[in-house]
Amino acid sequence: MCGIVAGIAQRNVVPILLEGLKRLEYRGYDSAGLAVVSQGEIFRKRELGKVKGLEALIAADPIEGNIGIAHTRWATHGKPSTRNAHPHVSRDKVAVVHNGIIENHDHLRTALQQNGFEFTSETDTEVIVHKIAEDLQTADSLLNAVKATVATLQGAYALGVVFIDCPDTLIACRKGSPLVIGVGIGEYFIASDIAALLPVTQRFIFLEDGDIAELKIDSLVIYDENDHRVERPIVESQLKADSVDKGKYRHYMLKEIYEQAWAVSETLEGRFIDNRLQDNAFGHNAAEVFDQIKSVQILACGTSYHSGLVARYWFEKLARVPCSIEVASEFRYRNPVISPDTLVVTISQSGETADTLAALLEAKRLGVKHSLVICNAPESSLVRESDLVMMTRAGPEIGVASTKAFTTQLVALLMLIIAVGRRFALTKETEEKIVSELFSLPGNIEKVLKLDNAIELLSQRFADKHNALFLGRGTHYPIAMEGALKLKEISYIHAEAYPAGELKHGPLALIDAEMPVVTVAPNNNLLEKLKSNIQEVSARGGQLIVFMDEELAESSDENVQIVKMPSVANIISPIVYTIPLQLLSYHVAVLKGTDVDQPRNLAKSVTVE
Ligand code: AGP
Repeated sequence: MCGIVAGIAQRNVVPILLEGLKRLEYRGYDSAGLAVVSQGEIFRKRELGKVKGLEALIAADPIEGNIGIAHTRWATHGKPSTRNAHPHVSRDKVAVVHNGIIENHDHLRTALQQNGFEFTSETDTEVIVHKIAEDLQTADSLLNAVKATVATLQGAYALGVVFIDCPDTLIACRKGSPLVIGVGIGEYFIASDIAALLPVTQRFIFLEDGDIAELKIDSLVIYDENDHRVERPIVESQLKADSVDKGKYRHYMLKEIYEQAWAVSETLEGRFIDNRLQDNAFGHNAAEVFDQIKSVQILACGTSYHSGLVARYWFEKLARVPCSIEVASEFRYRNPVISPDTLVVTISQSGETADTLAALLEAKRLGVKHSLVICNAPESSLVRESDLVMMTRAGPEIGVASTKAFTTQLVALLMLIIAVGRRFALTKETEEKIVSELFSLPGNIEKVLKLDNAIELLSQRFADKHNALFLGRGTHYPIAMEGALKLKEISYIHAEAYPAGELKHGPLALIDAEMPVVTVAPNNNLLEKLKSNIQEVSARGGQLIVFMDEELAESSDENVQIVKMPSVANIISPIVYTIPLQLLSYHVAVLKGTDVDQPRNLAKSVTVE
């Protein structure tokens, strides 16, 4: 994780780097730091915590420079502290910012210490800066020193490097961690994500794995992993600098919850002709691939994994497509048996999740011939590594808690079920039903958002609680899991989800008045069974909040608070029933006074194992 931003320009880069860091805080916010090279010296400022602390430090004691590097950290090696904050400096000459993990740092550290380098931090990054300083003793340029250093590194990195003896040169390189070059007029910048650079440019070069770039004010040279000089295309971004503003909302998360009707419409847009989903919505050769596959294997993490769990029900129930799903970090080390004619489907908001990427590469290594990614980040690593792509068009999601990415993933998955299912047992009638329900979604989402005030009131029931249970059945069990994840990640209340039928096998022992039980109870074939499960909880004094179809909704009583949901078709109800759970966790977090958009210990983009 961590966010990097750096630049070389004819103007002072410090304000640009600070703004860039703020836009990268979703990648980590344990500490922030910035260094410039100016008048033959490195000037560095570092602060524990968020970028605003660093900003205050620099406002109180300004630094300026035309070349600089900056970093916002999500701690891996070494606790969050000022001395572990980047940039790291070697012998007052070289400074480095790093995103990723260096796996052989112990070995390198020992060798560097033997050669007289003194370490001042517990980070894996510090070996990189000392190694570059060491390689500069024999290399004829900063570029060649960095090339020599990265040849010794094992693991993942994106780097920005400056050196006092080359004040006109910024070196950038990446392997396994993302890095983009922003092309300005007479200036270049680098960042972990284009969002950091949108205030200064909309023209970007996406470095490929193994690339090393030498940036000067008037030149840019890129070498690939085989040390060949290469040209990489400049891509014009459509995103605007203010597309990541909070607008009228108090938090990004709330804004993103409210954007879901729009995001779903965008995701559906242009993918149908005469109400018929086009195979090529997944890529020009998608039809050929779909014709060949015999089963589906879904790989994802966190919230994206939950969307995959819903899809497994859909694939098997609606279309009789054999479908397996596994958490990516387990799949990658399990040595699974997988047939070459399986379609591996990865799901990821960021497209950079290290475990998901590694699981995809592992599936390919095991001989899988076809891959498809459902992703919200164009040009991300997973998009580049996959044969077929379905972009969710949710727009940038800044809140660490994933909301609109999840609902648009479900929309994309329903489209995939149509495309693949047609080749299996999906009937034309079911296909038409799915399509018409998909297009009804934005309106239904708007209706659910009207429950916001009622849900805010309910959230008070959680203010003094330390635990919560979430129950669901069928496709709504993963929705209960997603609700529990949302609550724990932003309100720090311990929450678990269970398939409601499983309660009596153990968790029922936890039920008392201190344990709120949130239940998603749409009108489907499992409702009667779910009602019995609700009774089991209520009879033991449990406090239930039940989201239920308005046409069936019973009245609330002492133990059971019913929230009436718009009546929707089964096929889309997992998407619709997600929204109140997002709102609930949001309001609980606000009540508890947590940092809603940047909850403790987490980061938005998990680019480490
Ligand atoms: C969601 O609220 C989480 N912050 C997290 O579980 C996330 O979904 C997970 O890290 C996977 O990320 P991805 O979708 O970018 O791959």
